[in-house]
Amino acid sequence: KKGSYDHFMQKEIHEQPHSLTTTMRGRLKDGEVLLGGLKEHLKTIRRCRRVVFIGCGTSYNAALGARTFVEELTGIPVTMEVASDLLDRQGPIYREDTAVFVSQSGETADTLLALDYALENGALCVGITNTVGSTLSRKTHCGVHINAGCEIGVASTKAYTSQIVAMAMMALAIGSDQISTQARRNAIISGLTSLPSCVSEVLKLDAEMKDLASSLIDSESLLVFGRGYNYATALEGALKVKEVALMHSEGMLAGEMKHGPLALVDENLPIIVIATRDACFSKQQSVIQQLLSRKGRLIVMCSKGDASAVCSIGSCRVIEVPGVADCLQPVINIIPLQLLAYHLTVLRGFDVDQPRNLAKSVTTQ
Ligand code: UD1
Ligand code: BG6
Ligand code: NA
Repeated sequence: KKGSYDHFMQKEIHEQPHSLTTTMRGRLKDGEVLLGGLKEHLKTIRRCRRVVFIGCGTSYNAALGARTFVEELTGIPVTMEVASDLLDRQGPIYREDTAVFVSQSGETADTLLALDYALENGALCVGITNTVGSTLSRKTHCGVHINAGCEIGVASTKAYTSQIVAMAMMALAIGSDQISTQARRNAIISGLTSLPSCVSEVLKLDAEMKDLASSLIDSESLLVFGRGYNYATALEGALKVKEVALMHSEGMLAGEMKHGPLALVDENLPIIVIATRDACFSKQQSVIQQLLSRKGRLIVMCSKGDASAVCSIGSCRVIEVPGVADCLQPVINIIPLQLLAYHLTVLRGFDVDQPRNLAKSVTTQ
């Protein structure tokens, strides 16, 4: 089933142009988004007081990646909940809330317990899952199957990008009654259409990411700085590195750099800075300057053609990625980091598809 690939994770990373195509199949027609699983519920969702995203691990990160454009396209405030933390706090959930549960397997115990809790509190419960017939799919009032195909590697890759695309379609569908955002919605829909070919292009960085991995083999730690749409990319990139390559890694909000992380910067600690084009670009340029002035060892991810705009020649290593609509850029930007985590794992000699101590689906609390 792995075909010409050595590992399922590798196969699933390279399969993403196809899995994203199946996520969107039949759902984008004549500039409109059609989500059969939500259409009866859109009116209720539009009237809700807030959207609460709930998930664990990579699925939580995907929801975080969707948060900004859901707020932008719907005007509804979005709050984020790690499922176990919502349960620990018994945090308030109201009848007027739309609770969106994100889970690849649809069987994660903490997420399902949070679902029971939200159902008891009377919220409208929406599922975003890869698994038809899963407990999450059955118990939610409605939802969207992401249709990414079966994911076998314990480290989630193709489900992450399909979850973001499914939530982008959800945001477009909820916001589709707003005239003022019509042009923006059209631009995102055309971005979705071109996404699979952009993903094919960014996958060509495979050899470059293997080379980068070989330079990081003996590092003890790796930081990843992102902000805005790509804060989630930083968290998810770092999660991939820690869960499969067994290297300490932290994703950080670049805006928090001066409030602690800056103390760690020296010539040895590798730091990835995500600085692709969006409204936060100039802020990221200044973050890079501050890190370079402290002799930080930087790897900068930027949009194609921006290498000299992000750092002076020779001062840092650059990963150039193709540009898409800003809110879809996280789908592109995570892919080099998935490739990096994969190669780092192989080069360090660890088990790619069955990382130490982890399970694909955590069905106990
Ligand atoms: C559905 C069919 C698909 C068919 C298409 C044709 C299924 C599973 N899907 O897709 O095979 O090609 O119509 O129009 O038969 N749901 C939840 N919770 C979740 C996910 C989904 O309750 O977490 C519900 C939805 O609200 C919906 C149903 O499950 O009632 C199917 O969802 P989905 O597969 O996303 O719907 P379609 O894309 O319309
Ligand atoms: C486990 C997996 O921890 O569960 C992760 O190892 C995954 O890869 C997490 O992100 C949540 O799983 P699910 O199925 O709810 O998305
Ligand atoms: Na259901």
